Amino acid sequence: MTTATAPGKIILVGEHAVVYGRPAIAAPVWGVVATAHIQERGEETAGEHGCVIVARDVGLTLRLRDAPPDQPLACVVRRTLQALALPPDPNWRIELTSQLPIAGGMGSGAALSAALVRAIFQHVGRAPTPEEVSGLVYVSEELYHGTPSGIDNTVVAWGQPIWFVRGQPPEVIRPGRAFTVAIAMSGIPSPTRETVAHVRSRWQQDRARYEGWFDAIGELAVAARRAIEAGDVTALGSLFDDNQALLARLEVSSPPLERLIQAAREAGALGAKLSGGGRGGNIIALVDPDRAKAVKKALVAAGATQVVITTVGGAES
Ligand code: MEV
Repeated sequence: MTTATAPGKIILVGEHAVVYGRPAIAAPVWGVVATAHIQERGEETAGEHGCVIVARDVGLTLRLRDAPPDQPLACVVRRTLQALALPPDPNWRIELTSQLPIAGGMGSGAALSAALVRAIFQHVGRAPTPEEVSGLVYVSEELYHGTPSGIDNTVVAWGQPIWFVRGQPPEVIRPGRAFTVAIAMSGIPSPTRETVAHVRSRWQQDRARYEGWFDAIGELAVAARRAIEAGDVTALGSLFDDNQALLARLEVSSPPLERLIQAAREAGALGAKLSGGGRGGNIIALVDPDRAKAVKKALVAAGATQVVITTVGGAES
């Protein structure tokens, strides 16, 4: 049996503006992963040869040969088999599991696809490059999200904090020192496709205003990279707050997210913002490690369904 994993992700600064060519910063979250297992199917299945994909966490069982062309996971399997010049319907059982909340803003779709690509490569004795993983995962991101910038597939493929500009190779960011982030799930599904479409329709109505906000977010990303590389968590915290104010103007925040952000700030977070598509999904709060417990407690009291504490730039990432 072959097993491969891929991490969840958070956008530290720059979501939405990144779709319009501005820079953004993302980090993997190795504490919550998606896993793919591949097993050769036994002799007893000889009469029904072929590839079966089972993803219990998303309630999915499908036969590769019957799956529609726009089924994201089947599409990733087909493209990966093609890339490796393998037969189109191998006699495999692929099992996918995920610790990531679905439509929770942590890149569950990208993580499942990345685990799948890695497992297929490994199963035939190949080690994929991050570029290969990212390119193949992008295929499913387009099916899930419509017009993705490519940041989610890139960060899960590299597995390290990245500086990302659409259409350019990512740059790995090395934090001057590790920093701690509390990720709070709102429990409200957040299909990225919808918030990205909302921002697009507003941008079409008033391009000048939206371009100005995207520029301002891009400048925050530049400043955040400097703060991360310098290990200046205080500066980074206030950049989170500034980014949140602009995300609220883009109309992708919501009262439940604002409640979580406020609770984190009141409990001593250095800054907090939504992360990913917004409306639902999750928020992230930059915390001193010794305040992490108190912030977590405040987030749960404010309605978070789950809180994950992660380190960016430490041993994990
Ligand atoms: C989603 O993680 C980030 C967005 O900027 C969408 C994208 O970049 O494709 C909202």
